[in-house]
Parts: sequence; C-alpha cells; structure tokens
Amino acid sequence: MKKLVLQTAVEVYTDLSELTETDQQLILLARASLDDSYSPYSQFQVGAGLLLQNGKMIGGSNQENASYPLCLCAERVALSAAASQYAQVPIMTIAVTARNPKKPLSQPISPCGACRQVIFETEQKYLQDIRIILQGEMGDVYVLNSAKDLLPLSFEGSFLF
Ligand code: THU
Repeated sequence: MKKLVLQTAVEVYTDLSELTETDQQLILLARASLDDSYSPYSQFQVGAGLLLQNGKMIGGSNQENASYPLCLCAERVALSAAASQYAQVPIMTIAVTARNPKKPLSQPISPCGACRQVIFETEQKYLQDIRIILQGEMGDVYVLNSAKDLLPLSFEGSFLF
C-alpha cells in the first residue's frame, strides 16, 4: 500500500490592506452583491465577485426558491452570468463573502461542493486556474490558487471520453 498525501496551501491575510487594490475591489463587489441576495428562507446572504481576463468584474448573489432544491448559490449565479455575457473570456479570480443576520461570521465562508465542482469545470474550460478569495464578516481572508485546492481528486470531463 502507498499513501497519497494531499496538501492545500492557503494564504491567510489578517488585514484587507495586505491584498492588492484589485483584490480589494473584487471583495467590495462581492460584499455589495450581498444586498441583491434573495434569501427569504435561510436569511443567509452570499455574494460573489468575478474578475475576468478583460478586466471586467461581475457580481452574483444567492437566489432562493420555495422549492428548496432550486436555490442558486452566489458563485454559480456569477459564473453563469460571466459565461453568458463573456463566453470566451477566462475568469482569473472569484471572491466569495457572506452575511448571516443570525450571527456574525468570524471566519471565511467556503464554497459548497457543487460550486467547487463548477469553479473547477470553469478552470478546465479556459485551461486556467482561478484564484479564490474567501471572506467572512470579520477576521482573516483566505486566498487559494485554484479550485483544485478546494476539491482534490476532482471528477473531470476527461473521464468521460
Ligand atoms: N450558498 C451559496 O450561495 N454559496 C455556497 O457556496 C453555499 C451556500 C447559499 C445557498 C442558500 O441560499 C444559502 O446559502 C444557505 O445554504
């Protein structure tokens, strides 16, 4: 038996000012997108901001539905908007943040498994890793260099051919 050890490197920033101006702008867009969240069922608001290779930034927020399985996560709302409006333009960075009226989020929130898979698919589509910035309401900001760091041993399209 051999053992495969999987490692994830996470950059931890204790202050927003340690990040580049562009990263800070993207986080601000993700936070502004929280106001567009439609979350009457969970009250949990999630905002995402994307930086495209052409410099454009696109926001997205979670959109819930009384039929719970139809709820859309902020990350996938933003990624779908980018794919629809700028189909040929790779995505460089995604910032994700959240607001929970029930309790302040003292650590970064992390994309759900389905969103990890979709961010990973987007990397495969453009043959380019996507940086992932994660923020709560206070405390540290995490930065990862690829969806592969959040989703090791990913299921990928090449398995199908
Ligand atoms: N949610 C997101 O928008 N992104 C995630 O990565 C995790 C969860 C949303 C879905 C739902 O509207 C609410 O958060 C509570 O699960």
